[in-house]
Amino acid sequence: MNEDANQDDFSLTRLFGLEGKTALVTGGSSGLGLHMARGLLQNGVRVVIASRSEEKCSAALGELAGLGDVVAVAANVTKADAREVLVSEITKRFGSLDILVNNAGANWGAPLDQYPDEGFAKVIDTNLNAVFALTRDLVPVLAKSASADLPSRIINIGSMDGIHVPIVQRVPTFAYSASKAALHHLTKALAVELGHKNITVNAIAPGFFESRMTDHVFEHYLKDIEDDCPLHRIGRPEEIVGILLYLASRAGAYTNGAVIPVDGGTSISKGKREWTL
Ligand SMILES: NC(=O)c1ccc[n+]([C@@H]2O[C@H](COP(=O)([O-])OP(=O)(O)OC[C@H]3O[C@@H](n4cnc5c(N)ncnc54)[C@H](OP(=O)(O)O)[C@@H]3O)[C@@H](O)[C@H]2O)c1
Repeated sequence: MNEDANQDDFSLTRLFGLEGKTALVTGGSSGLGLHMARGLLQNGVRVVIASRSEEKCSAALGELAGLGDVVAVAANVTKADAREVLVSEITKRFGSLDILVNNAGANWGAPLDQYPDEGFAKVIDTNLNAVFALTRDLVPVLAKSASADLPSRIINIGSMDGIHVPIVQRVPTFAYSASKAALHHLTKALAVELGHKNITVNAIAPGFFESRMTDHVFEHYLKDIEDDCPLHRIGRPEEIVGILLYLASRAGAYTNGAVIPVDGGTSISKGKREWTL
């Protein structure tokens, strides 16, 4: 039974308010991670961002500092010692963690006969192994602030390429799509495992958005990409931040184990051709 005296209050503040929460955004120094860090800060969340490059961390900090309580930690999430530093920084700063955004990601494109073992391993290591390891290491800190009423949240950034076979076949990205499909499944397995600790686990599966990762692809294939999307465009930053805020909020507390495509319908589309009968 829900005995919350405010249960009939459907105001945006109660449903979506995040003031005072704490979050870690991996890969928060650029692209989607930087947008999400900004969105969280603008809504009163205290944020730690992490990425490998000190330079990118301090540039991002320069952009975000005026928005609220934010620090940047240079940490490679594929390395156990760097993950330890992150966990201890979070414990020291916040004592507990409400929102973990596993966003850091890598890609590698090459034709099948030239696809190198080290490229495959690097992508799986960053997009899958590191997410598992960091999540495992942070569960005790996430559990500390979690309650049945307001669970802590793990939000994994997957990809529409983990749902369908990528459309831009001229740049084959075998490891990337395999890593994201596995991440989606890991999301569901962890959702079942961690529900009883009052931690939800969901994935956002973006379509194409502007970032360092997509710069090169857009340079050559933007028109194909737009043509393959039923909405005929790429995504906007607010469309990733919006779904993140939902998943992090009271409104999203009962969503668990979901993989939510944010791709304008691209992953369910086979393209539309003119009817020429
Ligand atoms: N943009 C899109 O269209 C799109 C579509 C679907 C999914 N995604 C996913 O969205 C996420 C963000 O990608 P993005 O497009 O925003 O690309 P991006 O701008 O290249 O951002 C990637 C971020 O991850 C960090 N990073 C990479 N390896 C890391 C590691 N080992 N340890 C810590 N940080 C690491 C990078 O910083 P450092 O270089 O400093 O480490 C950077 O901050 C990825 O998971 C990607 O797969 C993006």
